[in-house]
Amino acid sequence: MGRLDGKIAVITGAGSGIGRAVAVMFAKEGAKVVCANRNEKDGNETLEQIRAVGGEGIYVSTDVRKKSDIENLLKVTLDTYGKVTTLFNNAGILVHKPFLEHDDEDLAKLYETNFRGYYWMMQAFLPALIRHGHSSITNVASISAMKPESNAYLYGAFKAAINKMTRDMIREFSPQGVRLNVICPGPVQTNLTPEWVRNNPEVQKQIQKEVCPVGRLGKPDDIAYAAVWLASDEADWVTGSTIVIDGGACNMG
Ligand SMILES: NC(=O)c1ccc[n+]([C@@H]2O[C@H](COP(=O)([O-])OP(=O)(O)OC[C@H]3O[C@@H](n4cnc5c(N)ncnc54)[C@H](OP(=O)(O)O)[C@@H]3O)[C@@H](O)[C@H]2O)c1
Repeated sequence: MGRLDGKIAVITGAGSGIGRAVAVMFAKEGAKVVCANRNEKDGNETLEQIRAVGGEGIYVSTDVRKKSDIENLLKVTLDTYGKVTTLFNNAGILVHKPFLEHDDEDLAKLYETNFRGYYWMMQAFLPALIRHGHSSITNVASISAMKPESNAYLYGAFKAAINKMTRDMIREFSPQGVRLNVICPGPVQTNLTPEWVRNNPEVQKQIQKEVCPVGRLGKPDDIAYAAVWLASDEADWVTGSTIVIDGGACNMG
């Protein structure tokens, strides 16, 4: 018996990193998983991993910057599974630059993906989540929303906005059966990790030593364990929470 038996989970950004790890772990725990990202090859690789652990899912090509894609994602989910119980709102991008180098294109990209995409996903899926009841949304923000950081000004600001909006939303939606929580990851090794960190073992060692008291960078599974718990009935009394998973990075200078 899995901890997510009976759940129908939609995961944005399921084609790599944290989203893929969550998709596979959700499937292992019995959820049927709808993988939503843009790159079909990556989405299908996630599906293969889901099937390899004996799970079930589908891939729906989705760009969260397009409302029509989100409407299609909802329709395909309901046509396939008849309901949706769980939204893991995760698709995101990072632009890492000094403040004065940010331009309007960065602002638009980050707004459209990291804020409007989350907002549109919740607006589209909430009626179905309410209809089912006993459902949940987990939004992925970042420790960049919580601690001072250089070069992630717009990224951190939109992540903070997600954090705030999620906590506000519980007043309206938790009485209607939808729990909403936020996970704030610290530095996790994924495709989002800036090149100068990903390809530089010396920088990684320095980050491990100076940024993460636990002594290592995060792995996508570190986040997936919490995501499973938040999506499960074990977290039935958990809403409006911000869960920091960061090897202690938030507590460092
Ligand atoms: N890694 C970290 O250190 C870290 C720390 C804090 C927070 N986070 C957050 O964790 C989340 C996942 O990031 P990750 O680290 O797993 O990065 P990742 O490996 O780059 O994964 C990001 C996923 O989002 C998808 N995506 C990007 N733009 C999209 C769009 N417009 N529509 C649909 N899908 C889109 C990407 O796939 P396609 O390009 O195929 O669509 C990819 O599957 C992000 O919200 C990120 O901000 C990460």
